[in-house]
Amino acid sequence: MTSLTDPLTLPCGLVLPNRLGRAAMTEGLADSRNDPTGRHFRLYSANASGGAGLILTGNAMVDRRHLERARNVVIDSETNRAMLEQWARAAGPRALVQISHPGRQTTRFVQPCPVSPSGGPAVDLAGLFARPRALVEEEIVEIRTRFITAARIVVEAGFAGVEVHAAHGYLLSSFLDPSQNLRTDQYGGDIEGRSRLLVEIVSELKRVLPERAAVAVKLDARDGDEADLAWLGRRLGQTGSDLLEVSGGSYEAPAMLGLEADGSEIRSAHESPFWQGAAAVSESTDVPVMLTGGFRTRDGIDQALHSGVAAMVGVGRPLAVRPELAGELLRGETDLLDRPAPRVGGPGAVKRLSGAAANSGWHRLQMKRTADDSPPDLKLGAWTAATNYIAVDALLAMRARRSRMKLAARTRPAG
Ligand SMILES: Cc1cc2nc3c(=O)[nH]c(=O)nc-3n(C[C@H](O)[C@H](O)[C@H](O)COP(=O)(O)O)c2cc1C
Repeated sequence: MTSLTDPLTLPCGLVLPNRLGRAAMTEGLADSRNDPTGRHFRLYSANASGGAGLILTGNAMVDRRHLERARNVVIDSETNRAMLEQWARAAGPRALVQISHPGRQTTRFVQPCPVSPSGGPAVDLAGLFARPRALVEEEIVEIRTRFITAARIVVEAGFAGVEVHAAHGYLLSSFLDPSQNLRTDQYGGDIEGRSRLLVEIVSELKRVLPERAAVAVKLDARDGDEADLAWLGRRLGQTGSDLLEVSGGSYEAPAMLGLEADGSEIRSAHESPFWQGAAAVSESTDVPVMLTGGFRTRDGIDQALHSGVAAMVGVGRPLAVRPELAGELLRGETDLLDRPAPRVGGPGAVKRLSGAAANSGWHRLQMKRTADDSPPDLKLGAWTAATNYIAVDALLAMRARRSRMKLAARTRPAG
């Protein structure tokens, strides 16, 4: 019977000392050139010494024209290599950079012309998102190349590998989603077509990266979608993936935060709402599965590991507040992972938008405090957090756009 403290060797040979993964959480702490900063070093060195066997960074973007938020790290040929190497050293030998493209899930302040597999509609949240346009095939090929370039750069900088983000409604997730991907070419249609881009990326990563580099993939569990997920698990296993993380949800229905589309709490038979999805993937492949979302007790974690539904569990928000909780849990000093975030009330529409923004924003601000060497602020208000998550990001995005426009005007040839 698998225990939380058992080591796990991934197919690439990377040895994890235990079965607890620190889940990816967007930091929004890059500088105005979208490079990592000293804040990343401090945050990830706290996570590295926190005790989790695997560390996933927040999503780093593969294309600086398409950000998830204004201050994402971008990994491309312009990335400051010295800063990246320093970040890799701080994050330790078992850290993977999560690489991503936001697709349609980027506010209109950050990207007024987002892209998606087959165009509209816009993300339906208070008019904050613009209607996306469909990608043409050459652009899909270019995006694939960008994922490979980003992975090469981070592995050369010293990270143990990458996680390809194909969950939570971002671009690769929307390619997999039959309600978002209505393409009629080779990148749409049945699960084979919808997963083509992801499978091509993973296959190319395994071809070009050193053998020791880990390639993980984060996937969505959707209700009633277990057959597709099992197919995908098998396919990604054959393609050489080293770890399959199962999560779920999107901006419009934030199940990853334990919330329904209307902002109310998800009721689930297991501690994690993605249990069935993880079970389907685990049954379909020998590749280790990491189940992420909702774990707050040692008991709930043990159930997932003992039942074989997952080979590892991922924990996000509790470790955003206190990275050292990982070690406390592993050493048996606590059986509980705190869940102290305040909630917002209010009428339906307000609750729907602000519930997720307050929850994410609150945890992001706690990460920022760790990055600034400050203790968590458990009294931080829900509305302060929600406003910070949306409005501060919009202001930073508008400022970045203005300075790009000024730079373009200055460098434009006269006449
Ligand atoms: C502030 C914040 C930022 C997040 N950013 C990311 C991200 O960059 N990539 C990702 O895959 N998931 C992201 N997530 C989701 C987490 O990885 C995780 O799936 C989710 O928090 C559920 O796990 P938990 O219940 O243990 O927190 C984020 C969650 C929070 C709270």
